[in-house]
Amino acid sequence: MKKVMVLYGTRPEAIKVAPLIKALEESDALTPVVVSTGQHREMLDQVNKWFVVEPDADLDVMKPGQSLTELSARIMERLPQVLDEHRPDAVVVQGDTTTVAMGAITCFYKEIPVVHLEAGLRSGNIYSPFPEEANRRLAGQVTALHLAPTTMSRDNLLAEGIDPGIVAVVGNTVIDALNWTAEKPVEFSDQRLRDEAAAGRDMVLLTTHRRENWGEPMADIAAAVAELAARYPETLFVFPAHKNPTVREVIFPAIKDFPNVVIVEPLDYPEFVHAQKWAKLVLTDSGGVQEEAPSFGKPVLVLRENTERPEAVTAGTVKLIGTARQTIVDEASRLLDDAEAYAAMSNAVNPYGDGRAAERSVAAIAELLGVGQRIDEFEG
Ligand code: UD1
Ligand code: UDP
Repeated sequence: MKKVMVLYGTRPEAIKVAPLIKALEESDALTPVVVSTGQHREMLDQVNKWFVVEPDADLDVMKPGQSLTELSARIMERLPQVLDEHRPDAVVVQGDTTTVAMGAITCFYKEIPVVHLEAGLRSGNIYSPFPEEANRRLAGQVTALHLAPTTMSRDNLLAEGIDPGIVAVVGNTVIDALNWTAEKPVEFSDQRLRDEAAAGRDMVLLTTHRRENWGEPMADIAAAVAELAARYPETLFVFPAHKNPTVREVIFPAIKDFPNVVIVEPLDYPEFVHAQKWAKLVLTDSGGVQEEAPSFGKPVLVLRENTERPEAVTAGTVKLIGTARQTIVDEASRLLDDAEAYAAMSNAVNPYGDGRAAERSVAAIAELLGVGQRIDEFEG
């Protein structure tokens, strides 16, 4: 059996590697070694618990208010020991976080092949999203196998001169995870959410955490949500707050006193999936949420200037609106007031996957390691 290390550190990575870990566990040719950098703590542990994943090693690097450089240094300092101990045949990294960039470079220094899951996303602007656009480009430079979620992401890689032979279009494992989760019954652990959902109250779901939105853009987002909460007292505004104190300091004071605003701790993943199903409208700067909410046909207004996930924008369910207060208020109001505008955006689309991304990824990794063959590609 070839040993495949799956290295991850944050909430979205944990969600997106879980289906791959399960598929590796079922493989006859490959066996997983699960390693967490612990870039996130509570938000990562929540996800591991839901998917019943127990890391074989945890670098436990998270510190409150960590800077990019100290976080990077801790990962590079602690990972080599785990690589030496487990001696994997390949290491999978997923996405675009500090864990990904530093993990990939460390493996390259150790001459271990890197597999990049969710490869080829590009916004075209190295400063936005920051530092994620650079992280995925850096990882791509030392990658032996690029697992692209869509044909568009494959084309981004080919346009950069990457050998087509080391790129496979597999779909995004976010949809595998979503399918697995969405079919299970779930109730909100928060009493207010449970009651409001049961009453069928109209709900707007908000998440924000992006580094390039820190400061003024995030203050604008908060002011816009406050204005919307005042304008639509019958609508509930739900904010599952990212653990990052920089986010909380800006958003909480602006919205916390409205009776129709509910601020909660990060929701367990199945509860957040449930919240997306309940929501009438989603306001977000998250990458993963841009991929998930469209499959429930929920209009998504993206609080960013650009996106590396243009597929759902093209499909019409996602709209990029930036962070200007007035624009957010106008765009959200239009969807809440105008049934026709709402209907035009609320199409259930799945441009990011068909639920078989993990299976295709395992086959492609097996081929890379000489113990199997690829299967059909995802055609989205
Ligand atoms: C990170 C990723 C970002 C990803 C996001 C997903 C980088 C540079 N950023 O951003 O790409 O979209 O995760 O959520 O890799 N914290 C906790 N508990 C937790 C998690 C975070 O307390 O479980 C707090 C800590 O104070 C920590 C801070 O949040 O220092 C920031 O965490 P960090 O991983 O550096 O950045 P994020 O903004 O979460
Ligand atoms: N999510 C969650 N609980 C929450 C908010 C989000 O489980 O309270 C999930 C969501 O379903 C998605 C992922 O977290 O799969 C997105 O993570 P995040 O927005 O932190 O990071 P990004 O995707 O922007 O990198």
